[in-house]
Formats: sequence, C-alpha cells, structure tokens
Amino acid sequence: MALQLITTKDGSHTLRNTEINDTYHSIHGAIQESRHVFINEGLGHLLNESPSKIDILEVGFGTGLNAYLTLLFQDQIRIEYTAIEAFPISEDIYSQLNYGIVLGADRDHFQKLHQLNWHQSADITDWFSLSKIHGRIEQIELPSDHFDLVYYDAFGPEKQPEMWTIALLERLAITIKPGGSLVTYCSKGQFQRDLKTLGFRVELPPGPPGKFEIVRAVK
Ligand SMILES: C[S@@+](CC[C@H](N)C(=O)[O-])C[C@H]1O[C@@H](n2cnc3c(N)ncnc32)[C@H](O)[C@@H]1O
Repeated sequence: MALQLITTKDGSHTLRNTEINDTYHSIHGAIQESRHVFINEGLGHLLNESPSKIDILEVGFGTGLNAYLTLLFQDQIRIEYTAIEAFPISEDIYSQLNYGIVLGADRDHFQKLHQLNWHQSADITDWFSLSKIHGRIEQIELPSDHFDLVYYDAFGPEKQPEMWTIALLERLAITIKPGGSLVTYCSKGQFQRDLKTLGFRVELPPGPPGKFEIVRAVK
C-alpha cells in the first residue's frame, strides 16, 4: 500500500493512499473533521442519553485518530471500542503522526492503540478498552444488536463503492442496537435512501469545513 504523509489545514497529519488517490481525512483538517463527525455528532450526542457503558464499532481504524479522540474525550463512562481494519499501517508510519503533539495529549496512549496486536483486546485506560480485528468488514462476522454507535469511516463511495452497498449497510444495521446509531462524513443521496430502506431514521447535522452536512442514522 503506497501512503504519503500530508499536513492538513488544522496542522494535523493525514495519509493519502496514492493507489486510489484518496485521503484518510479531510484536507481542511483531520482532527477538526474527526472531532466534528465522530466525536461531537456521534459520541457526544450519545452521551446526552447518559448510558452506563458504550460499545463502539469503527470501520477503518487507519491512523487510529478516531479511537484516540474517543479515548481522550471523557473518563466517566466505560467505552468498549472495536476497530476493524483491512490494511493496517506500519509502525514507521504511525510513529510519525503528530496527533499527540497537536492535541497536547499523552502520546503513550496513541502508541498503545497501535501496539496492541491484531485479534487481541486490552484495557488501554480504566475506562477505554480496545479490540482490534484485522480483516475486511465484508468478511467479518458481526454480533446482532450489539453496538451503540458505529463510526463508519471508509473511503468515499466513488473510490470504494463496495463499502457502500445496501448489503453491507444491512449487516451494519443488524449489528447496531435498537436506538443505536451510525455516523459518517458521507451524505450521498443514494446512501441516505439505502439507510431509510433499511429502517434507519436519517439525521443530517451540519458538516465540518468543506462539507455541507453529514449523516447520523438512528436504528
Ligand atoms: C478514510 S480511511 C479512515 C481511517 C481511520 N478512520 C482514520 O481516522 O485514520 C479508510 C480506512 O478503511 C480501511 N479499509 C479499506 N477497505 C476496508 C475494508 N474492506 N474493511 C475494513 N477496512 C477497510 C482503509 O485501509 C483505511 O484505513
């Protein structure tokens, strides 16, 4: 996999996959986008309901930025975070990412997220456990009615249409608990229609800079 490290407009790094010519985050700001879409509109929204524990599934662990921001966001409620990734990045790449520096946060936690072996689970902090699955989402068996929140962070439908089929979305629908939700940066019309066909209520919060709106789909 050919990856190029680039700096986005908020000073945080992202990666460009030069084979499909797509970036892991918005070039307007990687941290800004992840915080807005996944943390504020996903996790923050869910915390309003005062859950006693939260199960999160991330599709596309990539740089680990979403997991890191989730770990840093709060220390009151236990989060069990499952991350699936088909093409893990190497230590050479993740050790160059500047998220700890830009956030002024503990870099050890970021390293630990990456150092945990694939197909293992561990408590990274007292309130955040991580389980890492190496494989393609299409081929991984998912439990039914399990996750409170899915961070759907695949490459875009133009670059990776196989990640946005109604068949795959249906599997995600099954793994989400009733009342749980899926958040993503993509708000394409066909994607919204497919979510509605599957019985989701589609909410369209405003997007981060460079994006008009995003999707929160509630089961
Ligand atoms: C847009 S990037 C986002 C990565 C990550 N969330 C981050 O913040 O860095 C999409 C990620 O999905 C991964 N991916 C691509 N195809 C996949 C598949 N079939 N199953 C699971 N992950 C996949 C890519 O390798 C990449 O890491």
